[in-house]
Amino acid sequence: MDNATPMDNATLTVQDQTLELPLTKGTENEVAIGIKALRPSTGVITMDPGFANTGSCESAITFIDGEKGILRYRGYPIEDLAEKSTFSEVAYLLIYGELPTADELESFRRQLRRHSLLHEDMKKFFEGYPPSAPPMSVLSTIVASLAAYYPVANTDDDVNLNIIRLIAKLNTIAAFAYKKSVGQPYVYPCNDHSYAGDFLHMMFAVPAERYDIDPLLTKTLDMLLILHADHEQNCSTSTVRMVGSSGADLFSSISAGIQALSGPLHGGANQAVIEMLEQIENDGRNIAKYVELAKDRDSDFRLMGFGHRVYKNFDPRARVIKQKASEVLDQLGVDDPLLDIARELERIALEDEFFVERRLYPNVDFYSGIIYRAMGIPTNMFTVMFALGRLPGWIAQWLEMKKDPATRIYRPRQIYTGSTERAYEVIGER
Ligand code: ACO
Repeated sequence: MDNATPMDNATLTVQDQTLELPLTKGTENEVAIGIKALRPSTGVITMDPGFANTGSCESAITFIDGEKGILRYRGYPIEDLAEKSTFSEVAYLLIYGELPTADELESFRRQLRRHSLLHEDMKKFFEGYPPSAPPMSVLSTIVASLAAYYPVANTDDDVNLNIIRLIAKLNTIAAFAYKKSVGQPYVYPCNDHSYAGDFLHMMFAVPAERYDIDPLLTKTLDMLLILHADHEQNCSTSTVRMVGSSGADLFSSISAGIQALSGPLHGGANQAVIEMLEQIENDGRNIAKYVELAKDRDSDFRLMGFGHRVYKNFDPRARVIKQKASEVLDQLGVDDPLLDIARELERIALEDEFFVERRLYPNVDFYSGIIYRAMGIPTNMFTVMFALGRLPGWIAQWLEMKKDPATRIYRPRQIYTGSTERAYEVIGER
């Protein structure tokens, strides 16, 4: 892309060579050293496990200042979007770069409604899974199989059509995955509802009963989807970009992103938080014991929903969700003991030297599961909800990667530490 502003060069001395390396600055003054010349000139590579200090691209989509706890999509603060916007509007903003006009938004919504049905044959895929199948694995495989139904897109219009299809159908796929897991008949999408409203309808309606969508649930879900919609170069988004960098199609790239999201250190943490809180509740609410366990270097236990690679301050999404959790539970008349445990856990951890020193704060997953529970969404669907929210971000990042002339296939290097060359001996001679 090369849109960053050039600055004076940096000088790097490697063994006996001195190199001039370009420095560039983004619009929020983050500075990068360009190391393209490093290996060709010196034979040396950089080593950065987990890519904690490595920029893989320039991006104009999302800005995070982890020190200050700032998150903005296309320049708009997340708090404003969560309060005032809708998920469809935010999806449009992320993918097309600007907030839509009223006409553009209506046309976008019309297209989403038009493409929400799944090909009838795809129902057979759901039937092939055991009822115990985690909805997250059903989601990723069905998304991958969309590539078999909608051929590789070659023009911008074809790509855009596949983008619309994917957003529209992910709602339906997610709800069908749930219906499959509980053995209920699938409920088809209905054009009368908003995106979030339709998801709730497809999740919770059953043929024998009337189902009225609660506007509070729709609004809450919309807000949660907005808060999850993008988060720059996180693990699943980098996966989407990496898979897409090989030229793989949109559906395959997003399917890979869904799988990356499923891990408990990433999106799977929202489920792991609730399981941890239940464990604490069932273990006599001994919160201090679990805080001690999380600090014990000999234990694998971590406080799920705590800590973040980028935020070294309160995750702004967690701040919004924490406040909303109290409001929504009050309005729904739900009294969840896990909310009290979560608050107490947070209070104790934030006063503890171990967490203070390492700057570990609650992240987006810490309180989101409590709201999902109050909405009646089962725990094994929490990460699917995250995927539904993150989809526009993945798409926006995939598109940006495709359009960026600076994109090359992702291909990191390594330092080899295995055996040096040795002679092969046939089995009988070993
Ligand atoms: N509980 C206890 N200790 C923790 C936690 C935690 N949740 N998170 C980090 N630490 C400790 C580590 O043990 C390490 O301590 P040390 O320096 O004494 O070895 C230090 O804090 C730094 O942790 P790292 O694992 O090196 O940090 P990293 O940036 O690699 O990992 C991660 C970030 C994966 C989010 C981590 O904080 C974690 O495992 N959190 C719990 C899982 C979670 O909530 N994931 C969701 C993240 S948000 C998202 O993806 C949507």
